[in-house]
Amino acid sequence: MAVPTMTPRERFLAAARRRPVDRTPIWLMRQAGRWLPEYRALREGRAFMDMVRDPALAAELTCQPIRRFDFDAAVIFSDILVPASAMGVGVRFEEGRGPILEPVSRDRVAIERLEPFDPEESTGFLAEAIRRVRAELGPDRAIVGFCGAPFTVASYIVEGGSTRAFTHTKELLARDPALFAELLTRVVEASIPYLAMQVEAGADVLQIFDSWAGFLDHATYAAHVLPHLSRLVCVAKAIGVPVILYANHAAHLTDLLVSAGPDVLSLDASADVASAVGRWRSSLAFQGNLDHEALLGEPEAAAAAARATLERFKDANGHIFNLGSGCVPATRIDCVQAVVDVVRASPSRP
Ligand code: CP3
Repeated sequence: MAVPTMTPRERFLAAARRRPVDRTPIWLMRQAGRWLPEYRALREGRAFMDMVRDPALAAELTCQPIRRFDFDAAVIFSDILVPASAMGVGVRFEEGRGPILEPVSRDRVAIERLEPFDPEESTGFLAEAIRRVRAELGPDRAIVGFCGAPFTVASYIVEGGSTRAFTHTKELLARDPALFAELLTRVVEASIPYLAMQVEAGADVLQIFDSWAGFLDHATYAAHVLPHLSRLVCVAKAIGVPVILYANHAAHLTDLLVSAGPDVLSLDASADVASAVGRWRSSLAFQGNLDHEALLGEPEAAAAAARATLERFKDANGHIFNLGSGCVPATRIDCVQAVVDVVRASPSRP
């Protein structure tokens, strides 16, 4: 195996900026979570949002996967629904049900009640967690800060939780497009100082999660979501760090996501990597896109899938190895180790 000549942070930022790397950098979405026994030990008897709001605990959970796998980047243990909570929506997580947001906001009165917030005052725990992670991991590790994308966060606020149908979100958009736009505007405006706070505290890169983007068709996304997303990406880049845009089940939206202007586009497992790389390799770097199910079987199969992923992105001008979506509770530790070993042995990229 080649001797590393870059620190993890240098390697990660170089890939994001489409510069040469000594090997492909790697981290995994949802790398902190229930698939790790050391996470489950701390989770026992605690509410998820209480862990997020405890800087010492959030920092510890952020560092757990780094200690075990030496990933190039640490993603801060938090959630995309933290800003919704700071805007005045009650957010809690129930076992087996996922997030529950109350009250739901579907009319003008409720949406105009969603307030911008002072990030240090309302979410200072996150800044403190980032500072603690930096102190523990030192200057050589990349730290990923994040927020949800306007459509994904708005859908949680409107639906009151996870959904597969998006009935109320669709209904709001059809009934009152201006009010839908007002909601997305409020989410974006609240997210901007929140992201700036994370960079100020030590985040090296920002990822914007549009987990539910794929639910919308191309025309609807272009008309009603893209302007808000583009503004968020543009302002996030102006903070001075690379911006990664992640969207799930969104192969039909790739041209729109590229046009939002991120430094890195995170492709899900269903993406047509060859055509995306072929078309946009000179505009941006890529992240992804190993199927998270490759981590549920045997380590040899996981390693083979990781090699195939590296091969798919070989013509990319900048590749950050990641999953297409995120780790799940059944993710196998031996599979992750096998993948990390493959990526750690990957060749340098001029
Ligand atoms: O990636 C990381 O390790 C960093 C922390 C992180 C979490 N959530 C912790 C978490 C990040 C970046 C997120 C993002 C997030 N949160 C997304 C976008 C990414 C994606 O998966 O599409 C979404 C949609 C959410 C909202 C959310 N949070 C849901 C729907 C759920 C419940 C379902 C589930 O996976 O458990 C969560 C809970 C959550 N967020 C957990 C963790 C570690 C599990 C909490 C537990 O221990 O019960």
